[in-house]
Amino acid sequence: MSDLRDLLAYATTRAADYRQRMAEAPVFPADADLDAIRKALGPLPDEPAPAAEVIRQLADIVEPALVASTGPRYFGFVIGGALDAATAADVLTTGWDQNAFNVVSSPGAALVEDVAGGWLKDLLGLPGGASFGFVTGGQAANTVGLAAARQHVLAAAGWDVERRGLHGAPAVQVVASAERHVTIDCAVRFLGLGTDTIRPVAAGAQGAIDVADLARVLADGPAGPTIVCLQAGNVNSGACDDLLAAAAVAHEHAAWVHVDGAFGLWAAASPATRHLVQGIESADSWAADGHKWLNVPYDSGYAFCAHPRAHQAAMSFTAAYLTGQGAGGPRAPGDYVLESSRRARGFATWAALRELGRTGVAGLVDRCCALARRFAEQLGAADGVTVVNDVVLNQVLVSFGSDQETNRVVDAVQRSGECWMGATSWHGQRLMRISVSSWRTTEADVDRSVAAILAARSGSAAR
Ligand SMILES: Cc1ncc(COP(=O)(O)O)c(C=O)c1O
Repeated sequence: MSDLRDLLAYATTRAADYRQRMAEAPVFPADADLDAIRKALGPLPDEPAPAAEVIRQLADIVEPALVASTGPRYFGFVIGGALDAATAADVLTTGWDQNAFNVVSSPGAALVEDVAGGWLKDLLGLPGGASFGFVTGGQAANTVGLAAARQHVLAAAGWDVERRGLHGAPAVQVVASAERHVTIDCAVRFLGLGTDTIRPVAAGAQGAIDVADLARVLADGPAGPTIVCLQAGNVNSGACDDLLAAAAVAHEHAAWVHVDGAFGLWAAASPATRHLVQGIESADSWAADGHKWLNVPYDSGYAFCAHPRAHQAAMSFTAAYLTGQGAGGPRAPGDYVLESSRRARGFATWAALRELGRTGVAGLVDRCCALARRFAEQLGAADGVTVVNDVVLNQVLVSFGSDQETNRVVDAVQRSGECWMGATSWHGQRLMRISVSSWRTTEADVDRSVAAILAARSGSAAR
């Protein structure tokens, strides 16, 4: 194993073997001895080591502490698996080690992002003229979208925030659902607006924004620069805001509309769920993840903007030595993201979309939704078990009677190794939170997981 060819073959074989094993291995490494693993990782060595030995050591030491989120029975957070083509494309991306800054740093990376970005807009029903950036994930996508929003609403008020900053600027109000994702608050913090600028809007029974309350909050608020944050896919229930109605109300107040659709935006990719995000095209910016429901490996997210100039003004920069930037040239990927030098994320997304095709993406969305309904039907039929949300997408929220019992069942399921789902608190209740987001999950995996959940429940009830 002396050359790079052998080393990469070894690494990819280890990764492939690992992924294959994950269909049957305990989903969470509950028995991993983290102290022993830390010790095995060792202190900083003084002497170099052969690459082959390093890679074998790394895999041997760390694999026992990995989580089988690429396997078929991982239902925690919203973590997709990783499609085969996208995984292999990511291996190539690492091998090619391109800097996806612009066409001079990598013509291939820039071109692939250009093509894949167009495909994404097409699939998600976004305006053809929207700009896009390939970012690390939903947090970055929300930050980029809100940076473009901040630029635009302040420019409309006669203030160049990129040059003058926020000192002395007209106050910007951010209006967002009480059930927004916490990364909206983070983005507002990063952008110097401060979370106190967020004016919360009530959410309805399923967690979608109350459009009447949105109208009230906007009517009661100051008339200055305003950003409204909507959501496709409530992180707990999966509910989508009524984007058509909410965006119309927001635009009546000349507000910028940003949609956080980290996973829910993918509803647009299937004819069966597209109605959930009707009006999606009327927003001004959108955030979506590749590494969740599209099943691209980490890290992969997308920031889209209906106002390319605001997007560019917020993100781009140039310097005398940076050839390939500037007006009139080919699209420069670096003009739309937070980073300067960065990984060529477009390759994995292109591969995922090429592997699935339009019908395959719709099929993935439909299958996950159908499997979520299967969870809901089977669990909801059991005594003392209640599914508390309308399962419109891939999220299922389950109560086992009391908060204490729910915590106990979740804990027992997690320790069982059969499957893994997290817990959440929503509308005053402790709940098991199931997210079906992996291309590998089958009906048999759901049935097996339901059996594990019900066994955990009887076990804890018997105590
Ligand atoms: C609705 C929503 N927005 C944003 C995020 C943040 O995405 P990421 O973890 O990719 O940064 C998530 C993650 O779960 C999410 O569900």
